[in-house]
Amino acid sequence: MQENNINHFRINKICCVGAGYVGGPTMAVIAKKCPNIIVNVVDINKNRIDDWNSEDLSKLPIYEPGLAEIIAETKNKNLFFSSEIDKCIEDADMIFISVNTPTKTEGIGAGQTIDLTWVEACARIISNKAKGYTVVVEKSTLPVKTAQTIKEILNSSRRDINTNNEKTFSVLSNPEFLAEGTAIENLVNPDRVLIGGDDNNSIQLLKDIYLNWVPENKIICTNLWSSELSKLTANAFLAQRVSSINSISAICEATGANIKEVSKAIGMDKRIGGKFLNPGPGFGGSCFKKDILNLVYLARYFRLDEVADFWEKVIILNNWQQNRIYKIIVEKLFGNVNGKKIAFLGFSFKANTNDTRESSAINIGNYLLKEGAKLSIHDPKVGFKQIEDAFLTIDQDRNNIKNSQWEKVSNIIDVFEGADAAVVLTEWSEYRNINWDKVANLMRKPAWVFDTRSIIERDKIINTGLNLWSIGLGF
Ligand code: UDX
Ligand code: UDX
Repeated sequence: MQENNINHFRINKICCVGAGYVGGPTMAVIAKKCPNIIVNVVDINKNRIDDWNSEDLSKLPIYEPGLAEIIAETKNKNLFFSSEIDKCIEDADMIFISVNTPTKTEGIGAGQTIDLTWVEACARIISNKAKGYTVVVEKSTLPVKTAQTIKEILNSSRRDINTNNEKTFSVLSNPEFLAEGTAIENLVNPDRVLIGGDDNNSIQLLKDIYLNWVPENKIICTNLWSSELSKLTANAFLAQRVSSINSISAICEATGANIKEVSKAIGMDKRIGGKFLNPGPGFGGSCFKKDILNLVYLARYFRLDEVADFWEKVIILNNWQQNRIYKIIVEKLFGNVNGKKIAFLGFSFKANTNDTRESSAINIGNYLLKEGAKLSIHDPKVGFKQIEDAFLTIDQDRNNIKNSQWEKVSNIIDVFEGADAAVVLTEWSEYRNINWDKVANLMRKPAWVFDTRSIIERDKIINTGLNLWSIGLGF
């Protein structure tokens, strides 16, 4: 797009930097819905690009229901996965930044604010390589006011060093609200699309893309900072609901109330609504914890300590939930899990995704391994290497977590062989239909089933001789 009059611009080529859980599915849906736009997805991780380009669609780096079908339809037609970052940026009219934004581990704001290394690096490449007028879209969740940083970096190089032609940029915030496992459905039928910006032309260009499939009344345009803050706030509210219901699950177990009945009773109040009221082992995923920490950091920065304390409690409660589940498991197994085999049903942070980031299974598993338990882990989509990396990330000390202490099992029946306990950690549909009669014969008695997702029907287990503890109900 080299024209001078930006009112006549049309977006012909998009580049997305970051072929991850957000960039991959989002660009696949844009490519499907906008067949006239060329969409290039680039990534510094060459292996990831190779996996996206694999002819075998079961090898895609990300598992999302419906994704493989869209990739099959669009790949190498108008959707391309490439390692040629500079070239794709040079050619693009619009660039999405979808790189990872982890929490800072060192220095000012460590453990709270986001490490902007990758976003900044991305902005610098764009600043150097882009040509003419380019719209830059923040897709990654970022601290409020990051758009300002991006603008400053982009505007540091106003002329093309080869042609001396002027280059200009417009920065938009277009946060992603997709949830993993339902990413395609969320992208195809979004509750809303949020576009933040201060330049009506570029806002319209992005809006035009979404108008290919999203009704206009669902596209909200705000200023940049409202958009950035809305994303953090949406995730904070959702996480808060999970911590709220988890706090009540503990009261249910203590009092004899049943969390499912309580959830139903409160959820029928339209003001509360029935979604996000499932108790569990604590929320995971790449966003909730990180975004709340960010909100807390922002609040403290503006000396709003009470606000910061309020949101921080959501994370404290989440950690406590993981910890208390681990303690219940140990307690029920006579206070000793040393050498005992514990079957883990599920390792991803929720069903229908192969993502393990911040999964409660990691912390609960780590605590149990440190007590000497042997874990036998089943998950239909998570592989051995992912589990190994996950454990190593939270505990670098190989003496604490030896690979020999845990195994990844492919056949679900094998996890139960000789196990003293089975812990349902992810609500995969196949765990709802386990033949407990058969399984009970394989386990070492007295054996326990810990259902942290409340998906196992008590009636199906009660006569098998197995003990069942369910979240928000107990026993
Ligand atoms: C990311 C952010 O973590 C999240 O905050 C935001 O809301 C959406 O984008 P996700 O797509 O889930 O989430 O991250 P990930 O799956 O790790 O993908 C990011 C990709 O960016 C990786 O493949 C990484 O290799 C790539 N990357 C990173 C680049 O291509 N260039 C960089 O400079 C840095
Ligand atoms: C979240 C937001 O939903 C999404 O809008 C945003 O773009 C990214 O972050 P995601 O992390 O993919 O999406 O999954 P989500 O469905 O929100 O679940 C997060 C965690 O909360 C999971 O561990 C899930 O198991 C847990 N959860 C969710 C519960 O424990 N109970 C519930 O009722 C709902």
